[in-house]
Amino acid sequence: MNDFKQRFANYRNLINQQLEKVARKKLPVSFYEPVRYVLQTEGKRIRPILLILACEAAGGHVEDCLDAAIAVELLHNFTLVHDDIMDQDDLRRGKETVHKKWDEATAILTGDGLVALSYLHLLLTKSERIQQIARIFTEGIIDLCEGQALDKEFENQNHISVEQYLEMIEKKTARLLMLCTEIGGEIAGARGEQISDLREYARQLGLAFQIQDDVLDMEITSGKTFGSDIRQKKKTLLYVHALNNADDKIKQKFLKIYQKKQIDSEDIQQVRSIFESTGTLKFAHEEVKSRILQAERHVNNLPENQAQRDLKQLLTYILNRKS
Ligand code: IPE
Ligand code: IPE
Ligand code: MG
Ligand code: MG
Ligand code: MG
Repeated sequence: MNDFKQRFANYRNLINQQLEKVARKKLPVSFYEPVRYVLQTEGKRIRPILLILACEAAGGHVEDCLDAAIAVELLHNFTLVHDDIMDQDDLRRGKETVHKKWDEATAILTGDGLVALSYLHLLLTKSERIQQIARIFTEGIIDLCEGQALDKEFENQNHISVEQYLEMIEKKTARLLMLCTEIGGEIAGARGEQISDLREYARQLGLAFQIQDDVLDMEITSGKTFGSDIRQKKKTLLYVHALNNADDKIKQKFLKIYQKKQIDSEDIQQVRSIFESTGTLKFAHEEVKSRILQAERHVNNLPENQAQRDLKQLLTYILNRKS
């Protein structure tokens, strides 16, 4: 294993150990059991690792930002539980989603509880900037809700521009990554340009991450419901690009599928082959690479140290991910 992979695995273990301590209470079972179920599934833990690396890159220490790191992972898990209800998905991290294993009421409550637990951990952070940190965290959640709202609204619209798509994914996905690096930087006492480089790094990384997630929707390796975006009529970059680049005949066929009341597995395969024939998958891959390069430019502005180099390596890890 190379050094980065080893350090990444160490951070991940550290986060997992902390997460195990989060919900030790047993009763009421219908609250604590699903909370534990979610926290014990195999997430990549990218957000807490980002927060820790940003803090260290800005000269801070892991002990000072560990509670905040746990907070962002708890928050992320809340978004996943509720997102799976919103997207009607049965599978997450290779396991049944909470609303499928239990029911929607349980999943709503699990998500609510995770938000409260995330604030509880965030507020353990010892920093003179705690008020600012809590503000960044809270504003990030509001943007995330706006992003999720746009994502749902777009399901019922045929024509979405690239700009509209980018606004939606910046809010639903990149904002959470941005608040991670920003809070990491704040805890380390970073100012001005450093904070904005950390933010911009996470913005580009977040956009790349969601575009890639859109592509992974059609890969079995994702551990999530296959073809869910197509079935739910999500306006992904793939959809937007395919519609803009298909000839008239293909475009009619494509729109006809999206006008169906229910999209089946055969339709998903047809859409997938349209994504291939219109060069859409290739385009998405190029787009991911160019965002990753932009993220690298920002991280290069930070003073060189191990964590700064790790933030760069994280980009390669993300670029090659299969889940
Ligand atoms: C999934 O995030 C949600 C998106 C923003 C696409 P991750 O791919 O980081 O999910 P886990 O935590 O590793 O399962
Ligand atoms: C990710 O959107 C954004 C949030 C979960 C907030 P997706 O709906 O694409 O995420 P996955 O694919 O279900 O993980
Ligand atoms: Mg989803
Ligand atoms: Mg969603
Ligand atoms: Mg997705």
